[in-house]
Amino acid sequence: MPSPTDPHAGGVPDGPAPLPLDGREVVVAVCGGIAAYKSAYLVSRLVQVGAGVTVCMTENATRFIGALTFRALTGRAVHTDPWADEEAGDIRHLSLAERCDLVVLAPATANMLAKAANGIADDLVSALLLGAGCPVLAAPAMNPRMWKHAATQRNLAFLRETGVRFVGPSEGWLACRDEGPGRMSEPDEIFTDVVELLRPER
Ligand SMILES: Cc1cc2nc3c(=O)[nH]c(=O)nc-3n(C[C@H](O)[C@H](O)[C@H](O)COP(=O)(O)O)c2cc1C
Repeated sequence: MPSPTDPHAGGVPDGPAPLPLDGREVVVAVCGGIAAYKSAYLVSRLVQVGAGVTVCMTENATRFIGALTFRALTGRAVHTDPWADEEAGDIRHLSLAERCDLVVLAPATANMLAKAANGIADDLVSALLLGAGCPVLAAPAMNPRMWKHAATQRNLAFLRETGVRFVGPSEGWLACRDEGPGRMSEPDEIFTDVVELLRPER
């Protein structure tokens, strides 16, 4: 007969309850825009619901937010340099792409969207995008003129055709002290889309 203090009394299950993204692997690829700071909150939310999160940053992204922030939030190494050889024989952009269930590009700069739409792979993030076999969710963020530019819209349309999903951008106040379309979606909205995309098939 269990004692009243027995934690197993009354059929209470052992261990913590499973989290919605337990066992799922997400790469968050951060590009060089002001909205990079919002990606820290996104990463934290993903970690809190059980996702294994690895952050890749462009060199330009590191001008906006430190890799250390993401390293602390994820408990994992942050990758920027495709040539880094921490693990012998590891071709970083390919191994990351193979291991993950979803790549989240946030913020997605006009530059990175242009590279992705044209198959350019000259840095870790663009090479990862080209090598990713998993779904990609992009959260664009840029000045309204950059967003409305025909080149950006053409790149976007092409990426949509190839299966890239987009969240945002929304309209509003931008860090460049301009207003209009181009503001990165709030991290909570991106988070909701990530959870939706990673939900097991029912
Ligand atoms: C202060 C500042 C803010 C910027 N913000 C953005 C931005 O929000 N979106 C964007 O597409 N480019 C932005 N840029 C330009 C990019 O940083 C630039 O195109 C860069 O080459 C992008 O590099 P990446 O795509 O490799 O990260 C900004 C530049 C500066 C100096």
